[in-house]
Amino acid sequence: MGLVSAKEMLEKAKAGKYAVGQFNINNLEWTKAILLTAQENNSPAILGVSEGAGKYMGGYDAVVGMVNGLMKDLNITVPIALHLDHGSYEGAKKCILAGFSSIMFDGSSLPFEENVEKTKELVAACNILGLSLEAEVGSIGGEEDGVVGLGECADPEECKTIADLGITMLAAGIGNIHGVYPDNWAGLQFDVLDAIQQKTGAMPLVLHGGTGIPDDMIKKAISLGVSKINVNTECQLVFAEATRKYIEAGKDQQGKGFDPRKLLAPGFQAIKDKVKEKMEVFGSIDKA
Ligand code: 13P
Repeated sequence: MGLVSAKEMLEKAKAGKYAVGQFNINNLEWTKAILLTAQENNSPAILGVSEGAGKYMGGYDAVVGMVNGLMKDLNITVPIALHLDHGSYEGAKKCILAGFSSIMFDGSSLPFEENVEKTKELVAACNILGLSLEAEVGSIGGEEDGVVGLGECADPEECKTIADLGITMLAAGIGNIHGVYPDNWAGLQFDVLDAIQQKTGAMPLVLHGGTGIPDDMIKKAISLGVSKINVNTECQLVFAEATRKYIEAGKDQQGKGFDPRKLLAPGFQAIKDKVKEKMEVFGSIDKA
């Protein structure tokens, strides 16, 4: 099966009270690990690509070619969306042309009226092409690939205005932060999430900054309408840890342990294990 829009998988998730994971990719090992784990667990999944990661991988055409090729060669039959993460307006247009199946336009740092106008234009383009579109209100805290947010909570009224433009899913800041949470983190603001869900009804809500959010908070967020959860840093941390252990044990200096296929194998397996663990918590296993 080829790439699909995230619309149907997220509507099913919202109705079924579970969430689909967005796992960000950085290279071939990341992509292969996530695709195989989704297939083995009969789970839908979303591959997230930040603008920085897209550039790192050579560009959006290279990303689309790699993902489509792996889907075919690995015979992936579960629903997979290829999604631009925190896209600028220009980045969104480039990914639409390159063949992404899902787009996030992050206009949260723009004046609200401009966020509305640009989101509206992208709704029209994505509708014609059958792509899903995520918009954002109230920035996510922390820093990801140069996109810095102060982490303010979204205004439920503004969420309703953006949701009514015809987007597929809505990211709303509720005290979530990209990267590792600081010790003094106040936690997710469930009263804000509840107010947003009441205003936006059936709209699937997106929780960014999935790394390090305790499982009970994840489950409560899903019960309040979150249907897509983004995880990036956690896969990077387990990949780095597994690779470090391999090198510290001197395995790269034994036999052909320096072969990249051996050197990167523990990190690859660590990503698979982490993605499976998240799919279990999100409840997406056997929901393909
Ligand atoms: P983390 O890196 O905190 O998991 O956040 C990922 C994310 O929200 C991508 O948009």
